[in-house]
Amino acid sequence: MGILFSFEGIDGAGKTTQVALLADALSGRGHKVTCLREPGGTALGEKIRSLLLDKSDEPPVPVAELLLFAAARAQIVATRVKPALERGEIVILDRFTDATFAYQGFGRGLPLEQILSVEAIAAGIEPARTWFLDLTPEQSARRREARGEASDRMESEADGFRSKVRDGYLERAKRHPERIAVVDASASLESIHERILADALGILAA
Ligand code: TMP
Repeated sequence: MGILFSFEGIDGAGKTTQVALLADALSGRGHKVTCLREPGGTALGEKIRSLLLDKSDEPPVPVAELLLFAAARAQIVATRVKPALERGEIVILDRFTDATFAYQGFGRGLPLEQILSVEAIAAGIEPARTWFLDLTPEQSARRREARGEASDRMESEADGFRSKVRDGYLERAKRHPERIAVVDASASLESIHERILADALGILAA
């Protein structure tokens, strides 16, 4: 059986860079690594991603948003994540269930019991370790401005939304201290990577 890792954080926290650095470091040590992103990672999931992130005249209501993220997750877990784990691979997810807890639970204010029931249906598996790259909403806004990219529907939410999402992640980390490591995302890329790699190697050696 393989091992599942995930990365979380508000926009601009550097998840995607850290996923790539970790994947390269582990592949370089001879591990077979599969990286996937959520929402997406499958043909159906990428279509759902567009439905969720493209700005449209009719944005989904919060429950529809929750269920669309869940549908993309059910698809990727069944068709990509579980088969890769069964082949003994390391799977690194750029976002997973903690994102729903933080964004739809805290950001949108949906009842947490609803979030947890949907999580049990759509995911049913837990990462061995999740790195939450923690950034304040102000730092996130500065990084997104510096990038100068057009923002998608979720990124267009106000800083107040990101602040609630961050609170959601910190609450989730409090509930799962053995799984979720809170990492200061304002540190240098290299020092963050070194810390995460050491953690991952420790888990793989155990
Ligand atoms: P990304 O920018 O990391 O690819 O993620 C896409 C956006 O979707 C991001 O703003 C976070 C949001 N999201 C949720 O709101 N709930 C979820 O369950 C997931 C996986 C992502």
